[in-house]
Amino acid sequence: MGFSGAKPYGEIIPVARHTLGPQEGMGLSVYVDRECACCHRSRGRGGHRTGPDLSNMTRKGRKAAHPVGYFRFPQAVDSSSIMPQYDLPEEARTALAAFVVSPDFSRYDMNILQRDQTPKDAGPPEEGTPR
Ligand code: HEC
Repeated sequence: MGFSGAKPYGEIIPVARHTLGPQEGMGLSVYVDRECACCHRSRGRGGHRTGPDLSNMTRKGRKAAHPVGYFRFPQAVDSSSIMPQYDLPEEARTALAAFVVSPDFSRYDMNILQRDQTPKDAGPPEEGTPR
């Protein structure tokens, strides 16, 4: 896991202290499975700082439609984006978007999940993208 010598990432996932709905839960497992923490952290924790901290989505006023477009083709938003394109099945894409915009840290405290506490088989099967 990870690159040798690189700082570990994705071992913990900061989430807001409220129960995740089924869709958000599925999104969480996609987030872990696709290693988004390689470039993203939340509240400064759990990942690398290459991309923006994802704890701010609510504060930035992002609705789920924004990340949905992002996953498909980040370069449509910013042509110099280094974020990879994710050819996810529709269900996984919307779930991941729901998860990414779900934490509202202005209302909830932070909960730290360990990677092995996340639902492993909640995500739909992979389609189209090589691992
Ligand atoms: C190789 C690094 C990298 C990986 C892996 C990556 N991202 Fe990103 N992401 C970025 C960067 C950099 C940006 C900032 C804008 C840009 O350059 O596209 C970004 C932007 C975003 C945004 C928009 C943020 C905003 O302020 O609107 C979201 C949402 C996002 N990423 C979610 C994800 C999710 C979820 C995954 C996993 C499926 C992921 N990213 C994987 C690098 C990455």
